[in-house]
Amino acid sequence: MAVIKPVVLRSVNRALRNLGGEKSPVIAGHKLLYRCNLECKMCPFWRREDEELLQLADEVRIMESLARAGVSFLGFEGGEPLLRRDVGEILREAHARFHTSLVTNGWLLEHRLGEIAPHLDLLFVSLDGIGETHDRLRGIPRSYERAVRGIRSSRSEVPTFISHTVTRDNLDHAEKIVELAEQLDIGVTVQIAYDYQTADPMSPQRGRLRPTIERLRDLRKSGAPLMESVDYFDAILNSWYEGKGWRCKPWLTINIDPSGRIVLPCYVLQEYQGQLPVWDVDIRKLWNSFDWAPYESCNKCALACYLEPSLFRWTDFSSLRDRVFDAAFHYMERTPRRSSRPESSRLIQIETPAA
Ligand SMILES: C[S@@+](CC[C@H](N)C(=O)[O-])C[C@H]1O[C@@H](n2cnc3c(N)ncnc32)[C@H](O)[C@@H]1O
Ligand code: SF4
Ligand code: SF4
Repeated sequence: MAVIKPVVLRSVNRALRNLGGEKSPVIAGHKLLYRCNLECKMCPFWRREDEELLQLADEVRIMESLARAGVSFLGFEGGEPLLRRDVGEILREAHARFHTSLVTNGWLLEHRLGEIAPHLDLLFVSLDGIGETHDRLRGIPRSYERAVRGIRSSRSEVPTFISHTVTRDNLDHAEKIVELAEQLDIGVTVQIAYDYQTADPMSPQRGRLRPTIERLRDLRKSGAPLMESVDYFDAILNSWYEGKGWRCKPWLTINIDPSGRIVLPCYVLQEYQGQLPVWDVDIRKLWNSFDWAPYESCNKCALACYLEPSLFRWTDFSSLRDRVFDAAFHYMERTPRRSSRPESSRLIQIETPAA
């Protein structure tokens, strides 16, 4: 049964403040670490050095700050979040305050599922292609097999989605990934690889990408279990091919790095990184003094965590139908009945593919 959390009151409070012209974040993304057990070509994060990781008490301080700022949804990522020994405890604290999600490469998923599943509303497992294509992009053999095995165990425990990143090397796999999701009876979320300066350039050439985006939009229209809205695909097509941009509202999503610092304006551009941890920052004040104007016309990335909230309008019926009613229907249809499986003891400290 769905749990009513303080997020409801928080959302009303935030909506009232927004009506008064105040900016505040709705969604938070938190990288628990940069370290990873895979080496994806397009990814800059595994190449970064971690500072000392935060203790659980500090993770809770981050959550308290985000709750005060009005955040309703907290998504965990990395690096590879399942490498954190205390990820289950962090999720337990988070789930008492927010709707939660986690994105993983799936390598450790089967072993750690019992610790994380009870505290998650959504689980994303990355798959960048079928079989060898995925392994090549992820840099480590057997990563496809491990991810799919993880999905097979998670889908009966927590609503599970494939997270598919479209790159120049897997353009012909997007549709196959949607088919795989249908076979596994789970959902899919899609993003287009962005070229970070510190990763291999893997963003698809725009001319070659277009038919893939159009196909995904058509699949979504015909009921494929894609999380992104039709508007999301249209916004990409309009901005990249027709010169009609969308208005980016990066203030709707707040990002916290592994040391607890806020990254602005978004984690893609990362132009500003505060020196203080978020619990020592007045987020409301920062949000309403930061100059967001230069980023409203940016349109450089197509990351759903920025693009989808930027497009949403309560007053637009198609927006409501697409994102709220259709999405809720998909979500309920695919929400598994959780088994009463007990939580396993914390199994590992850090496991690497070679281990
Ligand atoms: C950075 S990873 C962290 C979580 C976990 N290690 C994983 O791979 O799912 C989160 C998501 O970002 C995606 N990603 C990696 N590099 C990207 C890029 N250059 N542009 C867009 N998405 C990217 C990954 O494919 C993954 O789905
Ligand atoms: S598994 Fe995730 S964090 Fe690790 S290298 Fe790949 S995309 Fe980056
Ligand atoms: S469109 Fe630009 S400002 Fe907006 S999230 Fe993407 S990179 Fe950041």
